[in-house]
Amino acid sequence: MSSSTSSSSPVKSTGLHVGAIKPGVAKKDPILVADGVRRQFGGLVAVEVEHVEIPRNAITALIGPNGAGKTTFFNLLTGFDQPNDGKWSFNGKSLAGVSAFKVARLGLIRTFQLTKALGLLTVMDNMKLGSTEQRGEKLSASLFPFLWKKKDAEIEDKALEILRRFKLDEKKDDFAASLSGGQRKLLEMARALMTNPELVMLDEPMAGVNPALTESLLEHILNLKQEGMTVLFVEHDMHMVRHIADWVIVMAEGKVVAEGAPDEVMKNPAVIDAYLGSHQDIDLGTVTGRVTLPTLPKEK
Ligand SMILES: Nc1ncnc2c1ncn2[C@@H]1O[C@H](COP(=O)(O)OP(=O)(O)O)[C@@H](O)[C@H]1O
Ligand SMILES: [Mg+2]
Repeated sequence: MSSSTSSSSPVKSTGLHVGAIKPGVAKKDPILVADGVRRQFGGLVAVEVEHVEIPRNAITALIGPNGAGKTTFFNLLTGFDQPNDGKWSFNGKSLAGVSAFKVARLGLIRTFQLTKALGLLTVMDNMKLGSTEQRGEKLSASLFPFLWKKKDAEIEDKALEILRRFKLDEKKDDFAASLSGGQRKLLEMARALMTNPELVMLDEPMAGVNPALTESLLEHILNLKQEGMTVLFVEHDMHMVRHIADWVIVMAEGKVVAEGAPDEVMKNPAVIDAYLGSHQDIDLGTVTGRVTLPTLPKEK
């Protein structure tokens, strides 16, 4: 793993799709495929995704105005909510009806828009909870303490290594509640890595994060891809999206209304409409100025 990502511009993955670009376009190597996924709350259709494919080993941004259904879609894909209709598969395996815990074990992990770090647990205990290979899970193992003690030490070593990468190792014995908002976001991402995920879904990882930490968060996201993982993240900061996303999927009113390479998508009238409809304060052409980043590579 390299830690020099911030000094070099991220290498963008291109040629991810097959055929003409339109909502629902097929991908060369999709890690996740969803079909007809619908979630209704009373009379409100929060999600109605006809077809979408997430490209493997790339960074995909899921954007769209507030209330577009992005979080609900995340909840459905990761087993935290059940749809009224639809199917979806991860690495070709159907996930419909699979519990969030099992989804995580299969290699699909998500973080939450509002962090779920447990404040009254230490940073280390939060990390251990993130591990899907908890000690004492199997009766046979719990009967033989030497087995789970060894496992426990392994889990702790792994947690420490990840915490070091996120510069949280010195805080391992602190209560998560004592961390700043940004550090909690880092902890949540660090905890997600305890499961060795293949697909990491981040719901607004930068929201509420102090500018001093945004660049580090961003670098961690780029590193995930470098290590072979796939990232799907929700973000409102278009500068961030342009800088790190290989592909952008746009949702509005529960549907996928556009997708494509970042620069192309921002010019799409459907996208501008979606934002202007409910989000007049966002100018897709300008930069929010929240972070200073190295210059963008020119895309061919
Ligand atoms: N548990 C729920 N009960 C009722 N309505 C919900 C619930 N969760 C989300 N919604 C509604 O579904 C729509 C999509 O919400 P959400 O997925 O949070 O959007 P986004 O993450 O894109 O901002 C919104 O209108 C929201 O109010
Ligand atoms: Mg949301």
